[in-house]
Amino acid sequence: MVKFNENYLNVKDSYLFSEIAKRVAAFEEANPDKKVIRLGIGDVTNPLSKAVINALEEGVKEMSKAETFKGYGPEQGYAFLRQAIKGYYQKRNVELDIDEVFISDGAKSDTGNITDMFSKDNTVLVPDPVYPVYVDTNTMNGRDIIFADATDENGFLPLPDPKVDADIIYICSPNNPTGAVYNKAQLKQWVDYALEKGAIILFDAAYERFITDETLPRSIYEIEGAKDCAVEFCSLSKTAGFTGTRCGYTIVPKNIKVTSSKGQDMYLNKMWLRRQSTKFNGVPYIVQKAAAAVFTEEGLKQADETLALYRKNAKIIASTLDEIGIKYYGGINSPYIWLKCPDNTDSWEFFDRLLNEAQVVGTPGAGFGKNGNNFFRLTSFNNEENTKEAMERLKKMLNK
Ligand code: MLT
Repeated sequence: MVKFNENYLNVKDSYLFSEIAKRVAAFEEANPDKKVIRLGIGDVTNPLSKAVINALEEGVKEMSKAETFKGYGPEQGYAFLRQAIKGYYQKRNVELDIDEVFISDGAKSDTGNITDMFSKDNTVLVPDPVYPVYVDTNTMNGRDIIFADATDENGFLPLPDPKVDADIIYICSPNNPTGAVYNKAQLKQWVDYALEKGAIILFDAAYERFITDETLPRSIYEIEGAKDCAVEFCSLSKTAGFTGTRCGYTIVPKNIKVTSSKGQDMYLNKMWLRRQSTKFNGVPYIVQKAAAAVFTEEGLKQADETLALYRKNAKIIASTLDEIGIKYYGGINSPYIWLKCPDNTDSWEFFDRLLNEAQVVGTPGAGFGKNGNNFFRLTSFNNEENTKEAMERLKKMLNK
């Protein structure tokens, strides 16, 4: 008889954003005349930039001719894209070897897939609240998870506790869901902790380009010692509107090693390549070509023009919350606004009320962990008109 991986019994019935989509679909079916405004899942709304579209079109043309057609690509991704990413890091004085760059179909997949590299016996430390993928993927593998509380008291930026022994540490900064961002001194504490414990940090930098404060680190490799203990994941989903196009990258430094039970040095970079070449056939050529266009001067300028629109929406949300006296985090250096539910309501209750009374969708903080029970996440990824309307509806609902 087939034996199922029973660790799946320990994950919730459905993924957070699937549950939200289900509730919204049921509401829309029952209320077809009501216009629902979505500020829930962090999905972008603006089209791909001109530079990206031009590259996609060129790529399609190349695929149409035998002389320029491409089949399977190089396992780690095309060198032209890995070189472009290396150049992007160089601008922040981070030196990477091109073999440390792996092209992926997004940060979500790789933050989950990297768990293949580690034995079940590791202790995984994640902040609470947290992007549910880190918790769910490790639960699916049966790994022990411990939590670092992110709360109002520490500004949703927990710092390492030397008394706690963790082997694998997930950090997301700018944070999903709270929008909080670690400064260099705080991130250095995590790097020092990891080096001391012989732990590995899995750093999710998917929102790095939202940072406007030049003093804040956008890559963990801006911190001394990080190349000895940290893997970094990034994505073009939010930077360049690739949520539906799928392209990201993972940096696995060559120095990072894990010792096997027989005392053998296992280099993570080499083992990740081994894993990827077995389980992944890469991102389509045309998408990699489009991704490379993002890293050109013109591509980055156009990406920033779109990000400016989302920043404007974040400001609209933040100033509405200021006006009605609701406490929040994020909204600056981040597309997410993490607000305290009015009257300390339970976040799923607030979700249902906001949907039913104002037809606005957000994400209940409880979906990210227990410390999110009375918090709620709004995104700045809708358009300006809808964002303004959503805020008017919120004010009306709260009689403000
Ligand atoms: C979110 O809303 O948290 C993100 O869109 C999820 C993701 O990037 O996978």
